[in-house]
Amino acid sequence: MASVHTTPEWRALEGHWQQLRAVHMRDLFADDPSRAARMTIDAAGLHLDFSKHRVTDETLRLLFDLARAVGLEQWRERMLSGEHINVTEDRAVLHTALRSPAGEHLDVDGEDVMPAIEAVLTRMQDFSDRVRSGEWKGHTGKAITDVVNIGIGGSNLGPKMVCEALRPYQAEQLRPHFVSNVDGTHLAETVRGLNPETTLFIVASKTFTTLETMTNAQSARRWLVDALGDEKAVRNHFVAVSTNSEKVAEFGIDTDQMFEFWDWVGGRYSLWSAIGLPIAIAIGFDRFAELLAGAHAMDQHFRSAPLEQNLPVILALLGVWYIDFAGAKTHAILPYDQSLKYFPAYLQQGDMESNGKHVTRDGMAVDYSTGPVVWGEPGTDGQHAFYQLIHQGTELIPCDFIAPIRSHNPIGNHHSLLMANCFAQTEALMRGRTLEEARAEMLAAGHAEAEAERLAPHRQFDGNRPTSTILLEQLTPESLGALIALYEHKIFTQGVIWGINSFDQWGVELGKKLANVIIGELEAGEVTEPHDTSTTALLRYFLARS
Ligand code: F6P
Repeated sequence: MASVHTTPEWRALEGHWQQLRAVHMRDLFADDPSRAARMTIDAAGLHLDFSKHRVTDETLRLLFDLARAVGLEQWRERMLSGEHINVTEDRAVLHTALRSPAGEHLDVDGEDVMPAIEAVLTRMQDFSDRVRSGEWKGHTGKAITDVVNIGIGGSNLGPKMVCEALRPYQAEQLRPHFVSNVDGTHLAETVRGLNPETTLFIVASKTFTTLETMTNAQSARRWLVDALGDEKAVRNHFVAVSTNSEKVAEFGIDTDQMFEFWDWVGGRYSLWSAIGLPIAIAIGFDRFAELLAGAHAMDQHFRSAPLEQNLPVILALLGVWYIDFAGAKTHAILPYDQSLKYFPAYLQQGDMESNGKHVTRDGMAVDYSTGPVVWGEPGTDGQHAFYQLIHQGTELIPCDFIAPIRSHNPIGNHHSLLMANCFAQTEALMRGRTLEEARAEMLAAGHAEAEAERLAPHRQFDGNRPTSTILLEQLTPESLGALIALYEHKIFTQGVIWGINSFDQWGVELGKKLANVIIGELEAGEVTEPHDTSTTALLRYFLARS
């Protein structure tokens, strides 16, 4: 297949960027009073303003042409209907089915997947109700007070991010914890102070073979059994979430205490499945169902809204515009909500593991850029750390500003101050400050002319830095579900434009394989395998001192 790079639609965008690169957004706003109104869309409870981007109506038209030329609408349907679009693993990609309303039907490989999804949801509801009500007892008969999820990657980041985001909905008496890193410190610091009698572990792993998770689970099990003095205690304190019942049984968790999901749920898209069990326990199953409903509302929007009105499609195309035509390398996620503090980290896996690819679905090396480096921190902390570079550095960094209209913690005027900062940053990034303005401001503040002349270049901002603003009424299970699904579909759309498979992750394999070799050497205490001279020297240095 010809590269998307050589299509007329791509070429048209390249030419268009050459015309637009010198155009300032200040002028686009000045010339068009209806710009903000035209470039604002509401869907699934989210309000997106994408007017502060270096685009014109013509840019958007060319981007939509590109999306149609690569068959986005057809690919969207192929994903949603359960075709095996994950071609390297020969799997369907159906996280959207997990949030479909009860009673729908969806055949995958000749089988309706909905009854199995509903059955697992019912089990999750039953179990989470029992834990929350205290009916589920630990080995010594006490109710559970702490739930420790042991998992990594998609089996950690999603539930951890959602539990933090929805803290206002959490039951006081039940605290969720997350252990992911194989560094013993993570487990040790998490269980320090926990009472084994009232602690429940959820071992969450799609494959149930992941080194970090299995190691942490074994150590947690030892901690529990040592404390309670009885192997039988495992039954009351360990449940599993996995697709691999054999491995779960091998580990020693009865499969009647396993919550199943399926190979068509990618790890980084799995929080809607039984991987969401810690969420259901923390906020209650009804709230978990609202999270699913919010995501489903976004699925409906993504499926049916015309591309020109489609939130995920617009965000995706704006990303492609900067990455492939304007040379952006990174994308910042800037939540103006402390509860979303893990959202950038969550999206790092969602985006970078999905679109960090260098070959197309056909295995041809791409001759254009694919997924950006995704990063970010909540505002306003970021403002006092890295925003300097976004404002005045040499990199072009598109940013997403995400904020709720109402805070769950309306203390004094905190929320107004937070939001004022959010709006001011996007305004400043767009407008900048000219040299003349910088000079005039200094003179007005009483500086000498020579001083104003000397400092003005430092106080000048180019502006023209692109931002999207996404507002939610309030951070609720529903709006959070829609927000996450928005990004999932954005990532999918970009993958379609780039012609890559967003649903495999072979890039993590090599490191895992080499780590297994080195584990053997570290445990034997000698370097026996051929490595490069740097690695050999590092291993010897470590072994000599450890
Ligand atoms: O990082 C690789 C990866 O396979 C992720 O895709 C996945 O989310 C994570 O490891 C954990 O995998 P598992 O759920 O099988 O333990």
